Amino acid sequence: MNGEHEVVTQPILSIRNLVKTYPNGVRALKGVTFDVQKGEFLVIIGLSGSGKSTLLRCINRLHDPTSGEILFQGEDLAKAQGDGIRRIRGRIGMIFQHFNLIPRHTVLSNVLMGRLGITSTWKSLFGLWKDDDKARALDYLRLVGIADKAKIRADQLSGGQQQRVAIARALTQNPDLLLADEPVASLDPATCHTVMDYLRKVNRELGITVVANLHFLSLVREYATRVIALKGGEIVYEGSPHNIDEAWFARIYGEGSKEVHIN
Ligand SMILES: Nc1ncnc2c1ncn2[C@@H]1O[C@H](COP(=O)(O)OP(=O)(O)O)[C@@H](O)[C@H]1O
Ligand SMILES: [Mg+2]
Repeated sequence: MNGEHEVVTQPILSIRNLVKTYPNGVRALKGVTFDVQKGEFLVIIGLSGSGKSTLLRCINRLHDPTSGEILFQGEDLAKAQGDGIRRIRGRIGMIFQHFNLIPRHTVLSNVLMGRLGITSTWKSLFGLWKDDDKARALDYLRLVGIADKAKIRADQLSGGQQQRVAIARALTQNPDLLLADEPVASLDPATCHTVMDYLRKVNRELGITVVANLHFLSLVREYATRVIALKGGEIVYEGSPHNIDEAWFARIYGEGSKEVHIN
């Protein structure tokens, strides 16, 4: 799979011994270490509660890691504070399961929100976007095949269309890394593929490294260049999506869960 897809062996992200213990004592990550190579489409799998969302949220500092290192382009994100965290969010785009668009705003306005933190806040609040910001937003809407919906309210769109808007919004930040937390978990199977195809396009055509949490192994096999499986906050598998045989599957998900996860 993906034989033509070139992945340069140069880490864009190096996670070392990452630990996250929530204030209530839950140890969501128990010392996780791995590299993400530039250009990869890395997928994280694992049961609900295994720590997938916590991992992505530590990387873009929606959560504060308890200990460990998150080395990204020569900087330890785990140590960033204040303005440093804002800068990180500018270089790392994020896509969520429930799209997180502003429902009453237009599609274009939602995409322009990706420029927040880059453009001054009061200007964007009053819709005083620069022409080149608007042009860029439209370019990205075109890339995800939805430019004709620019003037429509976000809540008028289907789930799949909303997630494509969310992808365009993330791209307007001009990120080097795109994190996607269960990006297709709320969509029907056909729409899943459309959205995943656009994420792959972003990965291949724009060269943006993608780290995505995914549930279904069939999608993982189709889209991932590499897989990491988490179980109870620890890495239990790292490698090709095609080497996850039945034995590995049982180890990652537990016996008897095949029906739920294999497709
Ligand atoms: N904000 C939080 N406060 C306390 N515990 C949390 C919080 N978020 C997640 N957890 C716990 O951390 C563990 C990992 O959760 P999560 O990262 O959401 O896993 P996944 O995304 O794989 O389902 C779970 O036990 C979950 O209940
Ligand atoms: Mg999650």
